Amino acid sequence: MKQQLETIRRGALEAISAVQGRTDLEALRVKYLGKKGELTAVLKQMGGLSPEERPAMGQMANDVRAALEEAIQRQSAVLSQKAMEAKLKLETVDVTIPGKREERGRKHPMYAALDEMKEIFLNMGFEVMDGPEVEQAEYNFTKLNAPENHPSRDWTDTFYLKEDSSVLLRSQTSPMQIRAIETYGVPIRMVSAGRVYRKDEVDATHSPMFHQIEGLVVDKGVTMADLKGTLNAVIREIYGPDTQTRFRPHHFPFTEPSCEMDIQCYKCGGKGCPTCKGEGWIELLGAGMVHPKVLKNCGVDPEEYSGYAFGLGLERLALGQYKISDMRLIFENDMRFLEQF
Ligand code: DAH
Repeated sequence: MKQQLETIRRGALEAISAVQGRTDLEALRVKYLGKKGELTAVLKQMGGLSPEERPAMGQMANDVRAALEEAIQRQSAVLSQKAMEAKLKLETVDVTIPGKREERGRKHPMYAALDEMKEIFLNMGFEVMDGPEVEQAEYNFTKLNAPENHPSRDWTDTFYLKEDSSVLLRSQTSPMQIRAIETYGVPIRMVSAGRVYRKDEVDATHSPMFHQIEGLVVDKGVTMADLKGTLNAVIREIYGPDTQTRFRPHHFPFTEPSCEMDIQCYKCGGKGCPTCKGEGWIELLGAGMVHPKVLKNCGVDPEEYSGYAFGLGLERLALGQYKISDMRLIFENDMRFLEQF
């Protein structure tokens, strides 16, 4: 029996110190110390010993058990230590790897152009207003003196939201003229920028959604000279003090007389090039003296008050300001493009 215990001790200690995994260690514990384990089996034979032999054998069996338990505990600690070391090795931080650069966001070129424009008008005493993109036909057309058969009222041109053509995605920011006077009365000087919608195919100069900025001034004694002086000052602020402009007669339902304002081509200086299509001039905005009918539609007496209005496309403004050749670039939001501003 002494021999048996000795064999168990040696075999077990060797196996325990060699084991590499927790499951294997637990298997060894069961193998030797478990209810059906080898040591237990030996103890069961104690009954067959003489009373003289029993205490010494009992003592030895206990020693073996204690030795195995201690060995198991020690090996368990060794395994924990190894696992921890492996984990630390796996998670080491290499402080020599170059850091990731934080990309700073920046303003979209079109909104940069808009903000500059707003700033100029604010400095001239204008107020900046916001208006709805979902608009009533009443405001988008009727109160702006657009005749019933005006082509822009057509379903092929405008995004209607109601079968009876009463509600639509505004096709221009001009309805803000009406809303501004109705809300704040006259005298008034305001600009209002935002999205407008038209059923246009996308190409280098068109998009079904684009941005306009609208302006309106109504007061006593306002004349076409005020319109020209103000717009010239604004455009020279943006394009430089030597910028040449010209005003051509035009027609809009809500202004009389109406005009369009051109600037001399910023690319060729007026000689004629692909940017200005050989004209030497680039059309920038529509404007005019507010039609007396529009003033009346807002409850303002045209005998007492007069005013001017203007509207321009922001994309076109940004194209000119930043010398961008294709409007689609403004909407595609390709980082390689946006990062240049
Ligand atoms: N709403 C016009 C358009 O979209 C632009 C315009 C022209 C606005 C003349 C005005 C104006 O305020 O007076 O084409």
